[in-house]
Amino acid sequence: MQENYTVCHCKQVSFAQIADALDTHTTFDSVLQAFEEVQNVTHCSTGCGGCHQKVLDIISELMMG
Ligand code: FES
Repeated sequence: MQENYTVCHCKQVSFAQIADALDTHTTFDSVLQAFEEVQNVTHCSTGCGGCHQKVLDIISELMMG
């Protein structure tokens, strides 16, 4: 598994940290709501913002799965 690659380089947030942050809640109304929570927990995407779409993609992927 390639689970632990770094998604957000500014804040050094890995895929696994995003997955863990999502796991703290079971239901989100939307990907954007989930994104906010993940951002609160990990501070990902609070630097250059370049990873924003990548983080959203990962969250939607995890939510679908
Ligand atoms: S890479 Fe995530 S905010 Fe810059």
